[in-house]
Amino acid sequence: MIPTLTWTPEGVRFIDQTKLPLEESYVLATTYEQVAEVIVTMVVRGAPAIGVSAAYGVALGAKNTQARTVEEFRPEFERICTRLASTRPTAVNLFWAIDRMKALFATLAASGLSLDEIRQKLLAEAHTMYEDDIAACKQMGAYGAESMPQEGGVLTHCNAGALATCGYGTALGVIRGAVEQGKKIQVYADETRPFLQGARLTAWELMADQIPTTVICDNMAATLMRQGKIQAVVVGADRIAANGDTANKVGTYNVAILAREHDIPFYVAAPWSTIDMATPTGDQIPIEERPAKEVTHFAGRQVTPNGVEIRNPAFDVTPARYIAAIFTERGVLRAPYNESLKAMELAG
Ligand code: MRU
Repeated sequence: MIPTLTWTPEGVRFIDQTKLPLEESYVLATTYEQVAEVIVTMVVRGAPAIGVSAAYGVALGAKNTQARTVEEFRPEFERICTRLASTRPTAVNLFWAIDRMKALFATLAASGLSLDEIRQKLLAEAHTMYEDDIAACKQMGAYGAESMPQEGGVLTHCNAGALATCGYGTALGVIRGAVEQGKKIQVYADETRPFLQGARLTAWELMADQIPTTVICDNMAATLMRQGKIQAVVVGADRIAANGDTANKVGTYNVAILAREHDIPFYVAAPWSTIDMATPTGDQIPIEERPAKEVTHFAGRQVTPNGVEIRNPAFDVTPARYIAAIFTERGVLRAPYNESLKAMELAG
C-alpha cells in the first residue's frame, strides 16, 4: 500500500510528493506547525489527504501542548485549528476535518474529560477519519466501476489516487475498481501543468499497480478524444457545491468541455466530505492562487521572460451540466444535482 501519510509515535510521516517519482523520500512532521507547512508546500496534497493530515495536525498539537488543563489548552486549540485552516482554501475536506475535531473537542470539554483523555480521543478521531477515507474510496470505486467501459481508454486529470487520499483513491479508485472487476482499462493521464500531478504521481502509482498508463500533455486530450481513444473521463474533486458544480484541479473544466463535444461521459468521484451543501454554486467556491514560480519555472529552470505577468489559479469549476454522474461512498448521484444531493444528505 502507498504510504501517503502515517501516524507514528514521533509524529506524522508523509511521503514527499514534491520529490516523486524520481525520489521516494519521507518527511516527518512532529508539530502541528510542520503539518501546516507540509500542506502548504504540497508535500501532501489532494483534498481527502489534506483533510486527514489536518486532523492529525490537531491531534499532534494536543499531544505536544504544555497546557495542564483543558481550559489552559482551549485558546491554543483554537490557534492550532486556525493555522491548519489557513493552509489551502479550496479543498473543503480541510475545513470539514477541522470542524469535526472542533466539535469533538467542544463535546469532550463540556463533558468534563481530562486533557489527557481528550488528547487520546482527538487522536482516535483522526484514526477513524483515516480508516473511513480508505473505506469510502473503495466503496465509491465499486460504484463508479460499473460506469467504466468493459474495454477502453479512461482519461483522468491531476492525481486523485492513493496519494491524494489515505489509500486507493477516488477517481483512481474507480479505475482500480474497474480493473478488479476484470475490465481492460487503458488510462490516459493528463500531465497537469504546472505541478505535474498527472505525469509524476498518477503515472507513478498506476505503474506500481501495473495498470496500463499513458501520459499526455494537457493540450493533447482533444486529439486523443477525436481519435476515439477515450471512452470515459473520471476526475476527483476539491469541493462540490450544493448544485453539483465541481471545483477540481485547473484544467478539469477544459476536459469536461472537450468530453461533451466528443460525446464522452465525464464523471466525478469524491467522498461525501468533499460535498459542501453550504456553498450554493461553484461561483462561491474560493479558488487558490499559487505562487508564480510554479509557472515561470519548469523542473527548476526558468522558462518565461523576467518580469512577465503570471496567473496561477490552482483550481477551476466545472458546471454541473457537464457531469454525467458523481460517485460517492453513499451511492451514485445524477442530475439534477441540487435534488439528488439534497436527498442523499437527508438519507445520511
Ligand atoms: O493541488 P492539489 O494537488 O491538492 O489538487 C488535487 C486535486 O485537484 C484532486 O483532483 C482533488 O483534490 C481530488 S483528490 C482525491
